[in-house]
Amino acid sequence: METLSHDIVIVGAGMAGLRAAIAAAQFDTKIDVAVISKVYPVRSHSVCAQGGTAALLREGDSHDLHSWDTVKGSDFLADQDVVEFFVKKAPEEIIALDHWGLPWSRTEDGTINQRPFGGHSFPRACFAADMTGFHEMHTLDGKAKTFDNIEFYDEWFVTSLLVQGQSVAGLTALELRTGEMAVIQAKAIIMATGGYARVYEFTTFSHTATGDGMAMAYRAGLPLKDMEFIQFHPTGMVPSGILITGGARGEGGYLVNADGERFMKRYAPEKMELAPRDIVSRAETTEIQEGRGLEGPYGSYIALDLRHIGKAKIDERLPLIRDVATKLSGVDPVEEPIPVRPAAHYSMGGIHGNMRTETPASGFFVAGECACLNVHGANRLGTNSTSDCLVFGAVAGEEAAKYARSHDFQEPSREKVAAEEKRVFDGILGSEGDETVPIIRDSLRHIMSQHVWVFRSGDGLSKALREAKKLKERFANIRIEDREKQFNTDLVGALQLDFTLDLCEVTIAGALARTESRGAHTRLDYSKRDDESWLKHTLAYCTKDGPRLEYVPVTITKWPPAARAY
Ligand code: FUM
Repeated sequence: METLSHDIVIVGAGMAGLRAAIAAAQFDTKIDVAVISKVYPVRSHSVCAQGGTAALLREGDSHDLHSWDTVKGSDFLADQDVVEFFVKKAPEEIIALDHWGLPWSRTEDGTINQRPFGGHSFPRACFAADMTGFHEMHTLDGKAKTFDNIEFYDEWFVTSLLVQGQSVAGLTALELRTGEMAVIQAKAIIMATGGYARVYEFTTFSHTATGDGMAMAYRAGLPLKDMEFIQFHPTGMVPSGILITGGARGEGGYLVNADGERFMKRYAPEKMELAPRDIVSRAETTEIQEGRGLEGPYGSYIALDLRHIGKAKIDERLPLIRDVATKLSGVDPVEEPIPVRPAAHYSMGGIHGNMRTETPASGFFVAGECACLNVHGANRLGTNSTSDCLVFGAVAGEEAAKYARSHDFQEPSREKVAAEEKRVFDGILGSEGDETVPIIRDSLRHIMSQHVWVFRSGDGLSKALREAKKLKERFANIRIEDREKQFNTDLVGALQLDFTLDLCEVTIAGALARTESRGAHTRLDYSKRDDESWLKHTLAYCTKDGPRLEYVPVTITKWPPAARAY
């Protein structure tokens, strides 16, 4: 098997991965950086980010106000020292992207425009119409490609992380074109592989969002944190689930039920449609469950009405969603409301890391949605995610570069590599079972959508855990039809499914254990937030019998937990 080596290997070429690559390459031009991704960089899910990137740019806003909004939005589960660091760094990132050529939407005086967004008490979402992620990704990709010391491995699928003793040695990866496995040695590794919400039936996520990096880290002995907190975005377009940006409400859009009522007045009388996502998603689900949803061929839905905004503003600020709604739902928002309902959108949980993006394994750093650095707690505010990718991508790049300068390569363990080869080629590619990937994958999505959704209960979660464990057993009996090595998408699908089975088990176990309601985790049988017992982060460790849960405290600096009303 071929062995390649790079000082730093970044897994994932989305927003956090590209930002990390630029930071590392800039930090030391002699450091050799590799970016490895199962897709071409600009096909990463980050291009789907629409509404904006939160940062303080104007008078009237302040670090404390952005921090407070984030902490209150998190239902007090965010670590406040990390939040304060994050909000202070975010503006630098907006300016860096501006200098690298990002076409931000601007005001008449030429300054970067900012729009209101859910849960923020100041208009601080910098945007490029409703294609912010698309433009951010193209800007970062263009910038990264100007460095001679960044090498891209496009369409390589990383299968395992090699952690030896307490530090990282490298990883194993399949070159999809040939199907051959290689070992890539590294002094430092940054995991930036994004989220896993494709484990749901109705989701804003790309099909590639299968949480590979989280699962690899978990299997390598690192803890996953706060995985029970999954965000449901209030405006997934019916029937596809494609995102309709919260920017549509930021520009003045209304949410309306079958009675023509702006029902948010009963749930968040002050903020209305601009309440945080957990609150709006619960409100929509309640409207639908109590029979006030509109009825259509794809079930009940809520109407997102933009007509009063007018064609000119929709075309200027929201051209993508107009196009998408017209083409994929047959509804032109200039003329008619868009059918929407809550869709799985983001994972607040991820690989346990600190504000320097370090993890319990030395030389292993994490950034972006695959990481849980304690910024978003139990509910992330819209537009804080792209800021998070930029801020902590840059931190990870610099920290990894410092680490790589002062450490040497470790020889990857031959036994671990041989075991991984056996798992992939004998255990999955060569398996002669009679179970199929689509059946197990759809069953998993069904379980998650039935029992681990906006509202949860102990009974439902217990059932989900039993069913998810059964699916893991069935996966051992898998058979994939394509037995060739070259560009085997069946094999990739099976590897991804295997990862998501672990992640769902952790999510469900964490949700079952957490007997309270906080942020996006709403238990019908424990309807109140319980700070006395549950103001703490969940850590899940991999064992052969399933996840072992431990807890660590939340850091409070200025804002003790208080009632959360909007
Ligand atoms: O609604 C949106 O445009 C999504 C933003 C986000 O998830 O931060």
